[in-house]
Amino acid sequence: MRHAALRADGPSPPWLVTGAANGIGEAIARRFHSEGARLVALDVDKTALDRLAAGLVGVEPVVCDLAQPSEIAKAMQHVEQAYGHVDILVNNAGIGQSRHILAADYEHWRRVFSINLDAQFLVSRAIAARMQARQGGVIINIASIQAMLSEPCGSSYGASKGAIAAFTRGLAVDLASAGIRVNAIAPGFIQTRMSLNAEGVDETSTDEFQDWYVRRRKIPLARAGPPAEVAGVAAFLASADASYMTGQTLIVDGGLTVTF
Ligand SMILES: NC(=O)c1ccc[n+]([C@@H]2O[C@H](COP(=O)([O-])OP(=O)(O)OC[C@H]3O[C@@H](n4cnc5c(N)ncnc54)[C@H](O)[C@@H]3O)[C@@H](O)[C@H]2O)c1
Repeated sequence: MRHAALRADGPSPPWLVTGAANGIGEAIARRFHSEGARLVALDVDKTALDRLAAGLVGVEPVVCDLAQPSEIAKAMQHVEQAYGHVDILVNNAGIGQSRHILAADYEHWRRVFSINLDAQFLVSRAIAARMQARQGGVIINIASIQAMLSEPCGSSYGASKGAIAAFTRGLAVDLASAGIRVNAIAPGFIQTRMSLNAEGVDETSTDEFQDWYVRRRKIPLARAGPPAEVAGVAAFLASADASYMTGQTLIVDGGLTVTF
């Protein structure tokens, strides 16, 4: 399927996905590519990024540590010089460090916020300025159900994700008159590296998870989600089918947050 936002008469501006080398970002990059998009795939993981780009024509890997504002500025300058414009931006990169509040030092807090939230601000501001000049674009921010619900040792991660929902609303209001739509996705349990526990075991395969979330249907759909099912929602938000939606956070969690 060729995406409605792509032009038939020549190369379209690229779409940019952060954290594109693994997990949800990789699934979004692959989905967008399958719809005909040229892509800038940005990540700090050069090995995985090169592997992704090697298999997909029209994908440019850009290595960038989003914890470093100077690296973000350099990457944004490169994107502007190389392409001038980005049609669709997905702020997906994130880290899931868990820490009990009494064991969480300021360095931990700042690292979580710098990657999960500050980078979304810096990248969005740079890309939105170009989108404004062209009077159009879509921004999709990846939040988490931890924007609304909390788990033990998740205060910093949850706070960063809750802030993304508020940031998304604020961007949507500021950028609507420039023809830019901004929405967020809040995934539940998605099987990626982030669902590996401290022992490297996928937590969604543990007896505890299977008993509580699957057999007792704490997740009504009784399973964790593959990254492709988040990518499908990103493709929808990027498309003209979502043309009357802005400022929303869509929950993609198999129904987890509607039960108690
Ligand atoms: N997996 C889940 O269950 C889940 C649930 C809710 C939200 N999320 C969110 O989805 C997003 C993607 O997570 P995922 O599950 O695919 O995890 P992942 O670890 O598989 O992928 C995260 C990607 O972000 C990149 N990244 C991390 N730090 C970076 C940095 N400093 N600079 C550039 N890139 C960096 C990683 O290299 C990786 O490619 C995150 O924002 C995460 O918080 C995930």
